[in-house]
Amino acid sequence: MKRENCGQLSGKDVGRKVCLAGWVHRVRDLGKLTFVDLRDGSGLVQLLFRGLPDARKLSCEDVIRVEGTVVLREAPNPDLPTGEVEVKVDRLEVLAQAKSPPFAVDEDPPKAGEETRLRFRYLDLRRPRMQRNLRLRHRTTMAIREYLDREGFIEVETPLLTRSTPEGARDFLVPSRLEPGKFYALPQSPQLFKQILMISGVERYFQIARCFRDEDLRADRQPEFTQLDLEMAFLEDPEELFELIEGLLSHVFQETIGVELSRPFPRLTYEEAVFRYGSDKPDLRFGLELVDITEAFAGTEFRVFREVMEAGGRAFALRVPGRAGASRKELEELEVVAKAHGAKGLLWLARGESGPRGPLARYLPRQEPLWEATGAQVGDLLLFVAGEPVSAAQALGQVRLELGRRLSLIPEGVWCPAWVVGFPLLEWSEEEGRWTAVHHPFTSPRSEDLPKLMAPDFPQERLGELRANAYDLVLNGVELGGGSIRIHRRKVQQRMLEVLGIGPQEAEARFGFFLRALEYGAPPHGGIALGLDRLVMMLAGESTLREVIAFPKTASGTCPLTGAPAEVDEDQLRQLHLKVEG
Ligand code: AMO
Repeated sequence: MKRENCGQLSGKDVGRKVCLAGWVHRVRDLGKLTFVDLRDGSGLVQLLFRGLPDARKLSCEDVIRVEGTVVLREAPNPDLPTGEVEVKVDRLEVLAQAKSPPFAVDEDPPKAGEETRLRFRYLDLRRPRMQRNLRLRHRTTMAIREYLDREGFIEVETPLLTRSTPEGARDFLVPSRLEPGKFYALPQSPQLFKQILMISGVERYFQIARCFRDEDLRADRQPEFTQLDLEMAFLEDPEELFELIEGLLSHVFQETIGVELSRPFPRLTYEEAVFRYGSDKPDLRFGLELVDITEAFAGTEFRVFREVMEAGGRAFALRVPGRAGASRKELEELEVVAKAHGAKGLLWLARGESGPRGPLARYLPRQEPLWEATGAQVGDLLLFVAGEPVSAAQALGQVRLELGRRLSLIPEGVWCPAWVVGFPLLEWSEEEGRWTAVHHPFTSPRSEDLPKLMAPDFPQERLGELRANAYDLVLNGVELGGGSIRIHRRKVQQRMLEVLGIGPQEAEARFGFFLRALEYGAPPHGGIALGLDRLVMMLAGESTLREVIAFPKTASGTCPLTGAPAEVDEDQLRQLHLKVEG
């Protein structure tokens, strides 16, 4: 269809005959005159109908084609890019009539609920904001492909019907018709395939890869999501990969939102992140750092703290400048946050004009060590959590974030990426009664810890000391990506699986194909995966992934547009050798 872009008409076009097509955005009927805003992918322009009776019958979201002449507007609209002109229409053709939509396409923010927006997603996606988000996502993937192509990476697709991949979430399973009783799993990530590609001689791989995880959903989690997945052969030092990813992100930020990221990104150890910011994905846009005040509390008479210290715990403080006068309500609300994240309680001490105030005051005959350790001045408030070191710091870290929001300490439009390194390799799962991989079972320990992993007599209870050669990329308090240097020797991989409680037989059954591949000349390798939806969400300034995914799922994992998941007929089930119980 021969047509021009609505959104690009300007004073330069005055006098020109044009043919336009699009959706009726708004109609104003003034009797003899009818004004219509016409919308297409490029924007809006005002149409003027004089003496065309059919125009009065138009309604919102009808699809029309018009021919007419560009003229200057009597009353220009400075808020509209085409606001200087309008098109005086002399021919109108209605291409499709639209039912009255359940919500107005120009509402921002939309008044319709999530369910309605997703059920009528085709209308929701017509909203200019959603169009902008879709385009931003497109520009992001284009920029990624451009950059990685230039750096010698090739994009390789890996299967969606595959075997279970242990990323730690539940699998989505697909029953096999041809092999009764057997199932494919949808990939939680292309982890093993990308490693096999390294063994296959593909030295620089990437993929904009769809991943599936059957886990409880949150604003930054979808059951079906996209990763920028990447792997490099002959990678031993993560710094080489950090440099590449920093270059990639800088290119993406520049191409999409015109922002210059400052490089190199800071590197934090896991301990620094957790004990200074109370999170392994610290938001570095503001200070308010935690202080370890275990020493300052040594010998305290206060029972709660004494018990914690005796059990090897630690105490952390947050100094909140100028908040000595915080209300009881405010303190109680902050305590709710701490408790919701595992703390037994949140203690406080204010350094008032007339001395210390708060429940701790009488247990601390000498406050000086505490003022010194925290730098508290008169007028400041101190908040404390004590307990098992990591969980106590993390609970106070959540209070830090809450205060950041409440006291407006988090600046807008500031980007603070960072690498977090030196994660533990293993963590003890009380629930399962075994060691589990912090990242995944294919992550290599740091070279200095490899002998400990391999030594059969290394005490089991000390395995938590081993560090992984793994890293996370965080941005403004969001985990954007994670990766590691991999194990590339069969013996080490087998030992790792053994430590995770996967014996030789189970290892052969689940990962035999991969262990075999490791025997045929695997180069040292490593990589990373970035959450693409999360990246676009942040670039777009949105707060949920649903705003940047064309057809997302609801919080309960359903698709209101198609009605998925849905029942299937008996015949289909029979062919798949399945029976639904209950
Ligand atoms: P990981 O499991 O850390 O690593 O995932 C990498 C990144 O993917 C994003 N992500 C998600 N985004 C939306 N919804 C979800 N449910 C979801 N789960 C994860 C996050 C996360 O940082 N194979 C390894 C990577 C590697 O080792 O190279 C992996 O998948 O942004």
